Amino acid sequence: MIFIFNVILISSCVSLISADYSYKNADEWANEYPQCGGSLQSPINLTWHLVDDSDSNEPIIFENIYDTVAERMTLENDGHTLKLLFQWPNDPEKVPYVHGGPLEGEFRTHSFQFRWGSTITNGSEHQLGGKSYAMEMQTVHYNKEFGSYEEAEGSENGLVLYALFYVTCLSKIFKVDSRFKLQVEEEFDFLTKIIEKLPEVAQPGLSTDIEPFALGDYFDKEKATNYVVYPGSLTHPPCSESVTWLISDRIIPVSKEQVRAFQQLNLLNDDDHNNRPLQPINGRRAKAAQNSNYKNAEEWANEYPQCGGSLQSPIDVSFDLGSEIETIKFENGADSVAERMILENDGHTLKLSFQWPNDPEKKLGEEEFGLLTKIIEKLPEVSEPGTSTDIKPFKLSDFLDQNEFHSYIIYPGSLTHPPCTESIPWIISDRIIEVTEEQVRAFQNLNLFNNDDHNTRPLQPVNGRKAKFATKS
Ligand SMILES: *[C@@H]1O[C@H](CO)[C@@H](O)[C@H](O)[C@H]1NC(C)=O
Ligand SMILES: *[C@@H]1O[C@H](CO)[C@@H](O)[C@H](O)[C@H]1NC(C)=O
Repeated sequence: MIFIFNVILISSCVSLISADYSYKNADEWANEYPQCGGSLQSPINLTWHLVDDSDSNEPIIFENIYDTVAERMTLENDGHTLKLLFQWPNDPEKVPYVHGGPLEGEFRTHSFQFRWGSTITNGSEHQLGGKSYAMEMQTVHYNKEFGSYEEAEGSENGLVLYALFYVTCLSKIFKVDSRFKLQVEEEFDFLTKIIEKLPEVAQPGLSTDIEPFALGDYFDKEKATNYVVYPGSLTHPPCSESVTWLISDRIIPVSKEQVRAFQQLNLLNDDDHNNRPLQPINGRRAKAAQNSNYKNAEEWANEYPQCGGSLQSPIDVSFDLGSEIETIKFENGADSVAERMILENDGHTLKLSFQWPNDPEKKLGEEEFGLLTKIIEKLPEVSEPGTSTDIKPFKLSDFLDQNEFHSYIIYPGSLTHPPCTESIPWIISDRIIEVTEEQVRAFQNLNLFNNDDHNTRPLQPVNGRKAKFATKS
């Protein structure tokens, strides 16, 4: 025992503290670690009725994690869990981090940690609709406002933990709520690489180096799409309530032998599992961040019911045009100059957004330009999903000149992307602007989420809708 303590002291002081608790009396942790009795504890039984039906379509983005090869990868049995620790290259541009969606800030990737149970089937900490899985892997990220994981651990908004699940029996997994459709991935031998080193960390306090490898070779990047987010805590003492939990819909097959290899690791106090029991929800709410893609546009309605509505867009507008109405006017569009113009690749489309001057009458002088040229020259700065850049504000007069506005058709429709909100009047102009093939290709070269190579939704049924049209007198 003395020997073990020495080893722990040398390897990290976190391990020394954590030697004090056992999973045999997890319900008593609060006696020594008061935060373990807090009101925002993890894990929880995550069910769909905890999720606000927000149309939070904002994706969470993992940067660099699949591409950067760590300079050093260390596997450590800290007596309570198996950790894969990374030492990233010094170049801050290369350090993997997660951001976006509901996350406030950028959270650097610190480690992966594994949770298993005393039985093969009940190893995960979180449960989805009352189901537990063979193992749970938690990727640990700390707010880069803090210099290190240790500083972030006890601080508000300090940590993001992302959970994914391993399952031994595929037939078990399809019974979760249809809105949280689980995605089965292949196991690309990531666990094999870990498991072959387990004999070197069989005892608490031991650690060993692993030859660094690119995680991208072992995880299906395309599948990192949907999450449920809730406010929680570390699932082990000191149970700091500094954690934003991201529960993924990713399920990775694992064999019983592989789970057993983890179960055979020796933990402190002869613990035979390291998954904390479920904690009370105490009125917490979760949010879903779902990431639709254009490859499955026909299935959007499964997750976003409005996408199956009767007033969807786009439609073929060459149908019976209905009655003629007055011309619409675009006011100030021609002469106003925005204070700020931002070009953003949100992973599904390229957006140019405007921040207009407070003085609505404000007008600036003339300027010549080609709108697409101005946009395209900035595209290299937004080639990746989730990036944005400022554009020097310019007048839109070439694009929205009232005098050149001829005719249009108006019909009741919807957003052409999830959540497909209806009751949106679509105005289809008769304006056709010439573009070169190179210019179109510049847009096609933008990277979108899920490797989407297009972002046009297929045509939707007209369902008896009537359009109105206006021609310029
Ligand atoms: C394991 O989970 C199953 C359901 O997923 C449950 O029926 C069983 O009682 C659990 N076993 C233990 C030992 O917790
Ligand atoms: C988890 O939630 C599901 C769905 O609401 C429920 O049926 C189940 O009993 C819950 N399980 C636990 C252990 O609280």
